[in-house]
Amino acid sequence: MALLDVRDLVVRFRTRDGTVYAVNGVSFALEPGETLGLVGESGCGKSVTNLAIMRLLPKPAGHIEGGAVTLDDQDLIGLSESEMRAIRGRDVAMIFQDPMSSLNPVLTIEEQMVETIQAHEKVSDADARKRAIELLGMVGIPKPETRLKSFPHQFSGGMRQRVMIAMALALRPKLLIADEPTTALDVTIQAQVLELLRDLTGTYRTAVILITHDLGVVAGMTQRTMVMYAGFIVEAGTTRAIYERPSHPYTVGLLHSIPRLDRGTSEPLIPIEGSPPDQRQAPVGCPFAPRCAWRVAACWTDNPTLAARDGSGPIRETGPDATHRVACHNLPTPEEAAVGRPLRDGFRPAPPPGGVEDELADMVAVEAGAPDAAPVP
Ligand SMILES: Nc1ncnc2c1ncn2[C@@H]1O[C@H](COP(=O)(O)OP(=O)(O)OP(=O)(O)O)[C@@H](O)[C@H]1O
Ligand code: SF4
Ligand SMILES: [Mg+2]
Repeated sequence: MALLDVRDLVVRFRTRDGTVYAVNGVSFALEPGETLGLVGESGCGKSVTNLAIMRLLPKPAGHIEGGAVTLDDQDLIGLSESEMRAIRGRDVAMIFQDPMSSLNPVLTIEEQMVETIQAHEKVSDADARKRAIELLGMVGIPKPETRLKSFPHQFSGGMRQRVMIAMALALRPKLLIADEPTTALDVTIQAQVLELLRDLTGTYRTAVILITHDLGVVAGMTQRTMVMYAGFIVEAGTTRAIYERPSHPYTVGLLHSIPRLDRGTSEPLIPIEGSPPDQRQAPVGCPFAPRCAWRVAACWTDNPTLAARDGSGPIRETGPDATHRVACHNLPTPEEAAVGRPLRDGFRPAPPPGGVEDELADMVAVEAGAPDAAPVP
């Protein structure tokens, strides 16, 4: 079995405003040493999926309501809080977007690092301190012996992020989850932090889940990519396959909405019109349907499952030969993916089911040039 196996994970938030359908049956696996990129629009469930793996969902609203998470053959969902605490840091560690929120402002870096190390290993203060110095050196903090005495606020954002990485790696976890680890950093520091992650994971065969909005980072750092939308995985495969042959209309839209050096400056960026669905409604049909230029009638009622893009052979979830899988009733052709819209003669996205009023509303949207109108050739 893979190092990490997540099966049919369902996470809901029970709030005063109702239920939030945050993660709706997510499955994936990860092998040691693999780096998996997780991308998707804000609110699609990237953080919540990983907080659920760590069993750190915000309480009392967040609940794992279905599925299984297995790390190294151990079922994490069935563990008690104290058993889980022993696993966090030692077997699985998480780097958060904002390092200040994860560091304790009233303790020195030394106190925090020594405490983390000693929470998982029986080592003397002196040995824990030595290891902390070594780790800070590894993440490029100059003069680590003296910097250990500093408090978090005495470090720059980039340095705090490195401290977080050093702490996450202190115990050489088998799995490292990095949630937007570089978003708050300027580009040069971003590059250094990513390089560091790459080196360290290469050395220790740590598996990494890298959550980011930056598709360039995913392309450069990961072997595999998963695209999430509204709590579902809509496309998964090797990073190369997904970038060379994006196959879900949402992925196609994502790749057209960012600047690409290989496309030249004359090609306009195409934003994805509309917004993600309100996750307080139970999902019906494909969640991307209201924004999708390729939709057919079935899209409004049947949510497609993730299936091999070419429809054949056994499914491989991990490794360099991972199967390219897509959840879509009407896959864009390569030519369509290249231009970002359907090219079939006379094709129009299926109007929502319902009465004449809906169709009229759809026609008005077409007249007004809404995304529905785009595919009319
Ligand atoms: N504490 C909470 N209470 C209620 N709903 C929540 C809570 N935390 C997250 N959610 C909801 O869960 C869904 C998934 O959120 P999540 O934080 O995983 O998004 P994300 O993909 O990480 O987005 P971002 O890119 O902005 O970080 C969203 O609809 C969000 O509103
Ligand atoms: S074609 Fe249908 S199933 Fe595919 S993304 Fe569009 S709406 Fe969803
Ligand atoms: Mg997030």
